[in-house]
Amino acid sequence: MCGIVGYIGNKNAYPIIINGLKRLEYRGYDSAGFIVNAGKFVHTKTKGKVSDLEEKASEEASQSIESCYGMGHTRWATHGVPNNVNSHPHLSNSGKIAIVHNGIIENYLSIKRRLQQEGFTFHSDTDTEVLVNFIEFLKDKEQVPLETAVRYALNEVIGAYAIAVMEEANPTKMVVARLGSPLVVGIGEGEFFIASDASPFIEYTQNALYLEDGEMAVIKLNQPIDVRKIHNNEEVTPSVQELKLSLDAIEKGGYEHFMIKEIFEQPQSIQDTMRGRLLEDFSTKLSGIENNLKQFLSAERIIIVACGTSWHAGQVGEYLLEELARIPVEVEYASEFRYRNPVIHPGDIVIAISQSGETADTLAALKLAKEKGAFIYGICNVVGSSIARLTDSGTYTHAGPEIGVASTKAFTTQLTVLTLLALHLGYRKGTLDHHSYKKLCQQLSHIPELVAQTLEMTKDKVIEIAQEYKDVNNCIYLGRGLNFPVALEGALKLKEISYIHAEGYPAAEMKHGPIALIDENMPVVFLAPSKGHYEKVVSNAQEIKARKGKIIAIVTQGDKQMTDIADHSLEIPEVDELFSPILSVIPLQLLSYHIAIMRGCNVDQPRNLAKSVTVE
Ligand code: M6R
Repeated sequence: MCGIVGYIGNKNAYPIIINGLKRLEYRGYDSAGFIVNAGKFVHTKTKGKVSDLEEKASEEASQSIESCYGMGHTRWATHGVPNNVNSHPHLSNSGKIAIVHNGIIENYLSIKRRLQQEGFTFHSDTDTEVLVNFIEFLKDKEQVPLETAVRYALNEVIGAYAIAVMEEANPTKMVVARLGSPLVVGIGEGEFFIASDASPFIEYTQNALYLEDGEMAVIKLNQPIDVRKIHNNEEVTPSVQELKLSLDAIEKGGYEHFMIKEIFEQPQSIQDTMRGRLLEDFSTKLSGIENNLKQFLSAERIIIVACGTSWHAGQVGEYLLEELARIPVEVEYASEFRYRNPVIHPGDIVIAISQSGETADTLAALKLAKEKGAFIYGICNVVGSSIARLTDSGTYTHAGPEIGVASTKAFTTQLTVLTLLALHLGYRKGTLDHHSYKKLCQQLSHIPELVAQTLEMTKDKVIEIAQEYKDVNNCIYLGRGLNFPVALEGALKLKEISYIHAEGYPAAEMKHGPIALIDENMPVVFLAPSKGHYEKVVSNAQEIKARKGKIIAIVTQGDKQMTDIADHSLEIPEVDELFSPILSVIPLQLLSYHIAIMRGCNVDQPRNLAKSVTVE
């Protein structure tokens, strides 16, 4: 969950590294550093953000940082607190080898003890410093080139990594490797870029080589890239793909924060998700399903694995798939599933949902399911990501880059894919009749404009409500049926960016305990669209009202009953119950955003978090 970037070419490396780190900051932002080779290694690192690094580098301007070779790192701490010493890059004891690392070396302590016996000393608390010294130790002991020493070291390492290694004596060479953490090489005209994702180099080249797990590459100026398997040094033919990423998509485009930009992008991103899949004749086309139709039609069970917001989407998916396709669905936290020897039958389908496609627990859960013989299907946003490549089949969400740490458009596009999937399967299985299928497809085609209307209808009123509740310490979100997972998602959004304690519950569960929390200081957000369990939700709201709780209700346009009970209401357009989560989550995203801004929080980079959780 760190970001790494590197450059070997004929341009000044420092600005490329700094800009690249800024684009990768979503991956971690508690400390940052860079190193360039200007005849000798020059490096700067600091606790804090990339902007702090820039400031420190300009204060230390006595040293020349003009060089065409270098690399940088933005960190999300695993081993060792965020401070200057623990920041990357790390240098070996001789100062001649430097490394940046994203991941965890699990057996670092035993390697460290071994190196200490050999006279190595350590200055940081990190596993990464152990790895760079291990490389140095093996290089000197075996008298081998850097790449061989890296390979020897990695064959003894247990854990996950994406690394870039440079040595002072060979400025035009960089060795990179990956296992469990992403690494992509950008191949330009006489220049190479390396990064955790392609965003640092898209204005320079669209030619990218994604390293596979267990691969390493030696990059040398003016020479073809050399890719090999780490375990046996077998040569791999590099497979370079052309990306279609635009710079606009990864910039703020006039918005103050990525999160609000991404919230307002949802009409378009949902449209993009449906393009080519929801056809003009109101039918669905999903090649990922059609190409494996037998598998899907005979599936006795679907297991959905995911984490965080993607897990909430999976929960909505359970309702949709069971309702429309009548297939039993279980939704599992990937982190639990992977460690509990789950019962998986060969006919089972395991669906992984992941925006990044790199979440370590989801990836591991999927590998386990594959080993056990399940057919695995991916719903990912990042094209070419590890999860997308592991799956037997899948559907990309096409939401475009999501940079704000709080997931917004990824959620609604995941819901869109799950809806398409449920409609398609239901129709193909015959559990959904022709008329209902067409009617639902037709309604789905209007969702982008309804999302746009929802934004318009709620965007100003949300600010007034945020003003009133910005100082609360707790908040409860309640919903039923399809809107219960939306309550969970609303609570997650609030807590992760505003640091207000928030919980989501099925509305009817309140009286089994949590209702004891209700008093005049407790805001309760009700998901109460008119279709579904409206009357029941109204009764639950009465129970809260009777205990003086403050009610904020998400209701269907024109609502009377709930609006009368509530202290505040936010109206969304009328829509079939099955599609209501895509609309009802929108005001909750906006509410969290505005409350967080009013509390002075960094919404795009909340404390302690990172966008891709590539460690367990
Ligand atoms: O990339 P993924 O969808 O696999 O990420 C899963 C979670 O880490 C992610 O949804 C997280 O919960 C978000 N910060 C929520 O806003």
